[in-house]
Amino acid sequence: MTTVDDLPIRDDLRGRSPYGAPQLDVAVRLNTNENSYAVPDAVVDEIAKAVQAELRDLNRYPDRDAVGLRTDLADYLGHGLTTANVWAANGSNEVQQQLLQAFGGPGRTALGFGPSYSMHPLLAAGAGTRWIGALRDPDFGLTPAAAVAQIEEHRPDLVFLCSPNNPTGTALDPSVIDAVLGVAPGMVLVDEAYFEFARPGTPSALALLPGHPRLVVTRTMSKAFGFAGGRLGYLAADPAVVDAVQLVRLPYHLSSLTQAAARAAVAQRDALLAVVEAIKEQRDRIVATLRSRGVRVADSDANFVLFEAGADQRAAWQAFLDRGVLIRDVGLPGWLRVTAGTETETTAFLTAAEEILS
Ligand SMILES: Cc1ncc(COP(=O)(O)O)c(C=O)c1O
Repeated sequence: MTTVDDLPIRDDLRGRSPYGAPQLDVAVRLNTNENSYAVPDAVVDEIAKAVQAELRDLNRYPDRDAVGLRTDLADYLGHGLTTANVWAANGSNEVQQQLLQAFGGPGRTALGFGPSYSMHPLLAAGAGTRWIGALRDPDFGLTPAAAVAQIEEHRPDLVFLCSPNNPTGTALDPSVIDAVLGVAPGMVLVDEAYFEFARPGTPSALALLPGHPRLVVTRTMSKAFGFAGGRLGYLAADPAVVDAVQLVRLPYHLSSLTQAAARAAVAQRDALLAVVEAIKEQRDRIVATLRSRGVRVADSDANFVLFEAGADQRAAWQAFLDRGVLIRDVGLPGWLRVTAGTETETTAFLTAAEEILS
């Protein structure tokens, strides 16, 4: 059988593994930080109408610049942002890939502070950008001094920050982003995929955009909006950054169906985001319940919780699966991550946790 390594594949991709969160048919799926709530019927109707209205024109290419959608997203973000500050693609993964294509590439480096989102290094690899695995503190925090020291040591072309951070859940103190912006020689990307779940008062890096043309904030509709299947991510930055990603994006990368569905979803944001508070309640319930049982848990500003699962986290992960609860082994020895789902799903997780972690 021919394997990848038998092919004339790029040397820097040889031996690598693809992104691979298991997609298993299990009753309780809490492993990829999706929104557990189905799209409400009224929103389904609005999206269906918007998509229907596009169908006759599918013989034509879509708006290459997705101007209407970008305008809607700028309006949602606020902070005085306009269409020219916003760019959208098929998931924030694609936005980040475009940023790496434009600002990384062969001979260039990107640095991130682990443990963090596993796709950042994979996207860097795909774009031929050398990844520098800098570290968070042992308690998963990141101080301005530690961030600055590691950036000054490596002088990367791109710095990846993630706030709230996946998989630890904690948001970054704005002083860290400020300090990083002060020393980073290149672009600074703040991945705010989970921002809508942050605790009240958590500032967004969007507030730092004025005067920082090398700062990029990425967001997604996959989490709080419950639109993971629709694939829509976006960035906010100086208009020059939007000009830069247009140099590498594929022509017509966002289908007219995606643009129409996403616009309808953004218009229905009050209905879609109504479940965010319920999800945060379940997150806080997981944290409080596990802590009350003596389990170590990281603080979370996201829709998931990282908790200590004993010396053999793989065995614990399997024990959850055996009880019909799919959670995530992020490869962090001793720890597992669970998404805050509906109340019923959370109860299923906590019931299994009582047996497995005691
Ligand atoms: C930190 C972070 N950024 C980005 C993404 C990807 O989001 P999207 O679905 O927009 O590509 C995820 C998905 O889990 C994530 O955890």
